[in-house]
Amino acid sequence: MIVVTSHPSLALIKYWGKKNVEKNIPATSSLAINLEAFVTTTKVALSDEDRVILNGKEAPLPRFLPFFERVRQKLSSNAGFSVESTTNFPVAAGLASSSSGFAALAFGCSKLLNPKISTQEISSFARLGSASAARSLFEGFTILPQGAETAAPLFPQNHWPELRVIIAIVKAGEKPISSREAMKRSALTSPLYPKWVEESESLFLEAKEAVKVRQLARLGPLMQKSYLQMFATQFTAAPPIFFWEPESLNLLKTLESLRNLGLNIWETMDAGPQVKILCEEPQLEQTLHALKKQHPNISFLTSKVGGATR
Ligand code: PMV
Repeated sequence: MIVVTSHPSLALIKYWGKKNVEKNIPATSSLAINLEAFVTTTKVALSDEDRVILNGKEAPLPRFLPFFERVRQKLSSNAGFSVESTTNFPVAAGLASSSSGFAALAFGCSKLLNPKISTQEISSFARLGSASAARSLFEGFTILPQGAETAAPLFPQNHWPELRVIIAIVKAGEKPISSREAMKRSALTSPLYPKWVEESESLFLEAKEAVKVRQLARLGPLMQKSYLQMFATQFTAAPPIFFWEPESLNLLKTLESLRNLGLNIWETMDAGPQVKILCEEPQLEQTLHALKKQHPNISFLTSKVGGATR
């Protein structure tokens, strides 16, 4: 048996849409950080049959079978996998639980079959389950370029020591539609989708530079463009997709007014109503204080940049 821990991967520049649906290859390049405060712990053992238990509940196998089959085929094995996974945060609520979940699963299954396997290869297995999981394998700041089969490390966990993420849990509970289905619908029906794919590459390249020199005031507007353009493809899909809650928008307005007062704070959102806010340590307390005062019904968690799957 092997016990694996992994952190979710929060995209600052988003992957949304696939270049190859069957192989789960992303159409846009993403740049992300791992969230240290959130942890998935997964136990994997070899067994006669496949079985997955998520936070104490038996999970439907069809979501995992193509992934298990691929790992067995690639690593020349016919072993079954018995999996038990727990998270210290809500799953399927737009907190990237599939990234840490599939990263931990890919790591556990492949290390059991081949202890010498490379992280690159594990990353390409993880991608089959969830493309963002390919990034969770590596520490710190990571990229998954468009068209790529595997993610890559960009900068280590300690690259930007003052960077903090405030995670606003606007509404816990499962989201109405999976990111997989939502991105499919955006790609097939939104007239803005081709433009999104075209523009996101320049956002990615500029954001890489901003992260390199650790300039949040430069990175922030690029992050905003990325998530807002991604949501534009959802709002204009047929039928439209709304992950936001009214409280998400209220919070975005608060962030804008705090920025106008001089706070260097920049948000991003994923396939769910939660808002993730980047800031630097010297402004963390002041930001949290202002947010809690104006949004007493939202819970705010704080994280540093996290390490690799291990
Ligand atoms: O990897 P998936 O299928 O969970 O999709 C992730 C999509 C976003 O979280 C919205 C963006 C990203 O790059 O993580």
